[in-house]
Amino acid sequence: MMKHSLTALLVVSLISCSSSDGLTPFPDTFEWGTGTSAWQIEGGNTTSDWTQWEDLCVLDKLDGVRSAGETIADCHKNDDGPDAWNLYGDDFAMANGMGHTAVRLGIEWAKIEPTRGNFDQNAIDHYREVLQRARDEGLEPMVTLQHFTLPTWVHDVLEPEQSLRGWPGAPGSAIGEAAIIDAFELYAQKVAEELGDLVDIWVTINEPMSTLFGAYVAAMFPPGENLKLEKTVHATYNVAYAHAKAYRAIHAADQTDASGNGEVATVSIAKHWRAFTPDYPDKPGAVESAVRFDHLFNRILVNAITRGEIDLNVDQDVEDEGEGTRDELKNTLDWMGVNFYGRFMVSDSIVHMCDSSPCNEGDGLMVPLFVQENTDPERKYNDLLWELYPEGFIDVLTDAWSYGLPIRITENGLADEQDLLRPSFMVSHIEELQKAFNQGMDIRGYYHWSLIDNLEWAEGYTPRFGMVHIDYDSPERTRTPRESAQAYSDIIEAGGVSDEIVTSWGRLY
Ligand code: BGC
Repeated sequence: MMKHSLTALLVVSLISCSSSDGLTPFPDTFEWGTGTSAWQIEGGNTTSDWTQWEDLCVLDKLDGVRSAGETIADCHKNDDGPDAWNLYGDDFAMANGMGHTAVRLGIEWAKIEPTRGNFDQNAIDHYREVLQRARDEGLEPMVTLQHFTLPTWVHDVLEPEQSLRGWPGAPGSAIGEAAIIDAFELYAQKVAEELGDLVDIWVTINEPMSTLFGAYVAAMFPPGENLKLEKTVHATYNVAYAHAKAYRAIHAADQTDASGNGEVATVSIAKHWRAFTPDYPDKPGAVESAVRFDHLFNRILVNAITRGEIDLNVDQDVEDEGEGTRDELKNTLDWMGVNFYGRFMVSDSIVHMCDSSPCNEGDGLMVPLFVQENTDPERKYNDLLWELYPEGFIDVLTDAWSYGLPIRITENGLADEQDLLRPSFMVSHIEELQKAFNQGMDIRGYYHWSLIDNLEWAEGYTPRFGMVHIDYDSPERTRTPRESAQAYSDIIEAGGVSDEIVTSWGRLY
C-alpha cells in the first residue's frame, strides 16, 4: 500500500512538472503552415547567381571528403530537385489534407525579371496559378520576394562589373546608394501590382544576415568571399534601404484584402534570429563577445528598419561619424518574422578587422571572430550536427518581442532524414512558442521548415528538412509523408501542445 501510494505520488509529481496543462491553445486564426523557397524546390532556375555557383562547382572528392571547389556538396543542381514548379498542386493538396492553414512560398526574382526591366509575363502568370491554388486548398499564402538568390544582372559572380554588384553595390558607393535598392523596389512594386489581389502577407527579404555572412564572411555562398566584415555591414544597410523602399511600394500597390480578414497587406522580413552563448559564462571576454555578435547578427538590420538606426562600426551606439537615425528607414516592419534554428557558442575573440590591410587605428571594426556549434555530447544534434536548442527559443522571442510588433515564426526545423527527432523537436519548440503566447506575446503563426525535402544551399540535397520525403530517384519525385507530418497535424488539431501531444510524441529533452 505504502509502495503503491509513493509510486502514485511520484507519477503525479512527474506529470505536473512536465505538464502542458494551463497553456491556452493558439486561437483559430493562428496560421499553421510550412515554409519553402523557390530555388530550393522549383527547378528551372537558370539566370541567378546561385545557378552560376552551381556551374562553378568542381567535383574532385578525395576519400569522400568535400573538395574546395565543391561550391555545392556533390555539385547538386536545382534542376534535379522536387520539381515543385510542376507539382505545387500536389504539395498544397497534401498540406490541406494534413490540416495546415497557411503556406510560405518564394517568388523567384530571376525568373520574373530575367533581364533588367523585362518582366516575364509567363512567370508571373505561373505564380498567379500557384497562389490561386494555395487559396483553393485553404492555405493562406505568405510570399517571400527574395530568398538568397539574385538575378545575374543584379549579381554576376563571373563578371561582377557587368552587374549591379549585388547587395554591397559598386565599390565606393555610399550606403543607401547601391543600384540594387531601386531595382528591388521596382521588382517588389511589379509583383505587388500583379499578385497583390491574392496575397496579404509579404516577406521582402529572407535572412539577409545569413546571405551576407555566407557570401562575404564564410565563403559558402556566391561570390565566396572571406572575412569581409566591413563589406557585410555596408551591405546590411543597403538591404535596409531596399527593404524600406519595397515596404512602401508593396503598401502602395497592394490595396486588396485577399483573405477578407480586414488586413490588406502586412510586410516584414524573415530574420534569422540566433541565440549566442558565451562558451565560458564566467569569462567576461566571452560574455562581451556574445553580446557583440548578437548585436551584429541579430540587431543592426532590425534596428535600422524599426528605429532608423545606423551603427556603421557596430559598437552599439549611433554617435560616430556617418551614423545617426534615418527617417526613411523607420517603422518599415509591420510584424517580425523570426527564423529560429538554435545557437552558436561564442569564444573570447574580439579582434580588430579591416577588409583591406594595413588595418590602421580608427579604421575597421572590433568584432568577435569565433563562433561555433556546441559540441557537448549531452545535447542533441540534427544530421548537420547543429545543436537543437528549444530552451533558447523563449529568449529569442523575448528579444524579438521587445520591438513591440506581432511575431510570426517564419522558419523552424531540422535536417533529420530518419525523422527520429522531428516530432519531439516540433513539440518542444511549439510548446515554448505557446509559453511566449501565454505570457502575452502577440504571435500570429508558425511555419515549419519545411514541407518537403529540398536543396539545402551549399549542402546540396543530402540534408533532409522535409516532413515529407522526396524520392529523388523516382521520375515522379514521389512524396511520402514522414511520421512527423502526423505529429504536426495532431498539434494543429489540438491548437498547440497539450498533455496528450506530449504523451504521444514526446519532448526533445
Ligand atoms: C533558410 C532556408 C534553409 C534553412 C535551413 C534558413 O537559413 O532560410 O532556406 O533551408 O535555413 O538551413
